Amino acid sequence: MRVAFALLVAALCIFECSAYMQNITVKGVAVCNKKRLANVQVELWEKDTLDPDDLLNTVQTNSEGEFEVYGEQDETHAIVPYIRVLHNCNPSKPNCNRIGEYIVPKDKIGGIYDMTYLTLDIKVHGEKEKCK
Ligand SMILES: *[C@@H]1O[C@H](CO)[C@@H](O)[C@H](O)[C@H]1NC(C)=O
Repeated sequence: MRVAFALLVAALCIFECSAYMQNITVKGVAVCNKKRLANVQVELWEKDTLDPDDLLNTVQTNSEGEFEVYGEQDETHAIVPYIRVLHNCNPSKPNCNRIGEYIVPKDKIGGIYDMTYLTLDIKVHGEKEKCK
């Protein structure tokens, strides 16, 4: 029994002890109908295959539509960050918010992913809408 437990701890350590800190910065300018959009909520998430996804950070775009969000996480495998944008650019009904997700390219992890202009008019795959 004790041997089995020691083996289990050792096995877990091989998995857990190899975790390393990874980070990502995502920046850009939210645009809607060719105008910069303020007060857009930008959430930085990390996709986990087994656990629910982790929310790393949340920011709002400023009066110029600009945002910059930083997040870091300790993982054994390469992190899979994505941003989730909640906005009211051309919703189907006035009291609705559109929710779009954008994957961060793998080669940007550990650095900055500059999305430049985030054109919210364009619908993204798997988009959702939340209405009040
Ligand atoms: C982010 O990760 C990179 C690569 O591991 C590292 O060089 C950099 O110092 C980290 N930045 C911060 C703010 O921790």
